[in-house]
Amino acid sequence: MSKPLIAGNWKSNKTVGEAMEWLQNFKVVTTAQVMLFVPFTLLHPLKKKIEGLHLSIELGAQDVSPFDDGAYTGAVNARQIKELADWVIIGHSERRQHFGETDAMLAQKVDQAKKEGLQIIYCVQDENIPVPLGVDVIAYEPVWAIGTGKSDSPENASEVISAIKAKTHVSSVIYGGSVTPENVASFVSREAIDGVLPGGASLDPEKFANLILCSQK
Ligand code: 13P
Repeated sequence: MSKPLIAGNWKSNKTVGEAMEWLQNFKVVTTAQVMLFVPFTLLHPLKKKIEGLHLSIELGAQDVSPFDDGAYTGAVNARQIKELADWVIIGHSERRQHFGETDAMLAQKVDQAKKEGLQIIYCVQDENIPVPLGVDVIAYEPVWAIGTGKSDSPENASEVISAIKAKTHVSSVIYGGSVTPENVASFVSREAIDGVLPGGASLDPEKFANLILCSQK
């Protein structure tokens, strides 16, 4: 694996001030493809700061409206996101669990994102979850491994990811669930695993930089 994809998911964390501080303290030289998925409120200030500091971090949102512009109070749509970011996560298990998102709604979100040219990381909890056509990357994230400190084994993750690739024909599939600087190499060194999606380990800039460095070993 020469250029793993390392995508940090900040979930519902950080104010603008905290995000600026994170970026000041994030120092890494890497060949990895680094992405940050942040709350909507942070997209604009982070985009400006990343450009100002000439960092090669790609930005993404963690959700997108299933609708176009219009009377959908509280929703942020794909056209609005595309102004500020190139990527979006769709189908995270926390959206399915806490916000009642269904496969049908998620397929609508994928359509909206594609229409505006956003690239998509689509999360699946196992190899049997349906994946809409047109997603760019799939993230295999078993629910029991998220935020628990108990990651899947690299062997099993590799097997599930190979099954997902065979089923969907999506060529880039990454693993998420308690990824740390200590275990990241065991995942990305597997032929089938194209990168990782750390949550907790992306919140601290030194830890995230260390995780990226360890992914190259
Ligand atoms: P943790 O790395 O905190 O387990 O979260 C994984 C995740 O849900 C990333 O989307």
